[in-house]
Amino acid sequence: MSDIATRRKWDRAARSFDLMTGIGPDKRWEPAKRALFGRMGQGEILFLAIGTGLDIPFFPPGRRILGIDISPKMIAAAAPRVAAYRGELRAQVMDVHDLDLPDRSIDQVFTSCTFCSVPRPVEGLRQLYRVLKPGGELHMFEHTGSRLFPFGLMLHAMTPISRRVGPDMNRVTTANVVRAGFQLDRVQPVFLDVVKTISAHRPQD
Ligand SMILES: C[S@@+](CC[C@H](N)C(=O)[O-])C[C@H]1O[C@@H](n2cnc3c(N)ncnc32)[C@H](O)[C@@H]1O
Repeated sequence: MSDIATRRKWDRAARSFDLMTGIGPDKRWEPAKRALFGRMGQGEILFLAIGTGLDIPFFPPGRRILGIDISPKMIAAAAPRVAAYRGELRAQVMDVHDLDLPDRSIDQVFTSCTFCSVPRPVEGLRQLYRVLKPGGELHMFEHTGSRLFPFGLMLHAMTPISRRVGPDMNRVTTANVVRAGFQLDRVQPVFLDVVKTISAHRPQD
């Protein structure tokens, strides 16, 4: 799938995204997301896939954050939440496969529910590795495939349909993080082995 197709898919999803995601799932995951985003420090922060900005109220105040997303319509929908953030938050259209950011310029990357959607996940993760400073941190909230019966089979079966309108349900995101060169620090389950937080870092040279 080309990047234009990915952008169009998420532009279409932007219209109903808050309705589908903003009420149930977001309330449910709020404590885990708040705990993860609570790790935001005082350096340069990249937030990948800001979407409609549903995660922004969970960011600690006073941070310096660049939020990016491939979808201009997602970014437009996020504008009120971006404006309401009590800190420095900019939002920009950018594809994780082609980050327009200098090497080793970012202290921390945060993201949520993104690597279910990025078409070439290891390539995208390698870009995040490139822009992170040595020792820089990656913190993710993700849903993935499952090793548990029958969930793993169900998630595989759902993926050909789910990916037409949104995410893949069966990604091996933890393994992809390692494949991209990161050193894994912590994988914490949030729901079964499907929803989880993953923390990793770019090793020192
Ligand atoms: C499931 S949504 C999650 C949005 C938001 N993080 C949230 O949890 O509310 C996936 C997001 O990833 C974005 N996305 C997909 N592929 C991308 C890419 N290659 N580069 C940047 N963003 C991408 C989509 O536009 C969409 O906003």
